[in-house]
Amino acid sequence: MTNEIIVKLPEENYPIVIGEGVRQRFSELFKKHGQGRAFWLSDKNIVAAWDENLGGLCSNSHTDIIVMPPGEEQKQIATIERVCQILVTMGAERGDTLVACGGGVVGDIGGFAASVYLRGIPCVQIPTTLLAMVDSSIGGKTGVDLPEGKNLIGSFHQPAFVLIDVEFLKTLNGRQFRSGFAEVVKTALIGDASLYRSIEQGADDRCFQRDAATLIETITACVKFKADIVAQDEKEAGLRRNLNFGHTIGHALEALGNYAALSHGEAVFWGMTVAVDLSVQHGSLNHEIGQTIHQLLERYLKVIPAIHFRPKEVMDLILNDKKTKAGKPHFVLLEDIGKPIVTDQISNVILSNALEHLKHRMKRIKESS
Ligand code: GLY
Repeated sequence: MTNEIIVKLPEENYPIVIGEGVRQRFSELFKKHGQGRAFWLSDKNIVAAWDENLGGLCSNSHTDIIVMPPGEEQKQIATIERVCQILVTMGAERGDTLVACGGGVVGDIGGFAASVYLRGIPCVQIPTTLLAMVDSSIGGKTGVDLPEGKNLIGSFHQPAFVLIDVEFLKTLNGRQFRSGFAEVVKTALIGDASLYRSIEQGADDRCFQRDAATLIETITACVKFKADIVAQDEKEAGLRRNLNFGHTIGHALEALGNYAALSHGEAVFWGMTVAVDLSVQHGSLNHEIGQTIHQLLERYLKVIPAIHFRPKEVMDLILNDKKTKAGKPHFVLLEDIGKPIVTDQISNVILSNALEHLKHRMKRIKESS
């Protein structure tokens, strides 16, 4: 089974092709949607797991692929400079395309480098992690971090096409896979009640077992949802903010753990529990529905790390966040499964209580697992 979703944008539409073994269709898709020659960017882990031709994707040898070291610490402006310098050495020209094959970091670096190299060349995204497949490779957000915060420099640069081959997920370890699954659960909670029901009924187990049909179905649901949001609000003027459900607290927890104790998805899982509590406190979400969501989230929280934190530290990070400094922090909350709302009406007292609650929840879940 192969699915194709079209992202419809005012300037240009582009396809996202999802299936098992679909990397074999790269040449055909590149002929149709690419431009010039393909220059490849990947990381050492992908090359080690999938060989020098990236699992049959390209006929290039090692030396023709720009191979970055893996890790979030690569998301800095110096990496962009290095990638662009190598592109010059390789002779990449205006009419050529940069193909980013890897997880979220490779996608962000590849997309950003393509957006600035020679004032912009096309890029193709071939995500290899679940997180990149369901979220970061779609919608054109690219960028790097600053010491002051994550993703503070970047651009919107939509890919020419996205190729999602679920076979790449076979080499992902359990922790990386679970981390990506946070974005799947997020999508279900903010936009797809039927995806939520299928997860509740065991699609999550089948995904964790890497069942290709369930993965294709689940990833397609997430991609459809995100493609629709991006089509309506490409530059995050409003609706796209909903995708930040669980991320306001999640980003703060991730930072408190020095981006090592908790992966992005793990922090988002904890962040979503707080967002559910805030939704109930705020009066927008019925208490019983909140409880059923907590039950689902606990399936994953049992096996993800907890961290020690003081609620004040989290509050300080949120209130001093460079992106929210000008105004009050916005929280994406729920009115129901599949129905998000955005509010800046969360008092510091309510937030502080919810964070105390998170500390207790972390302790209880860790003690019982
Ligand atoms: N990851 C959130 C977004 O693409 O807007």
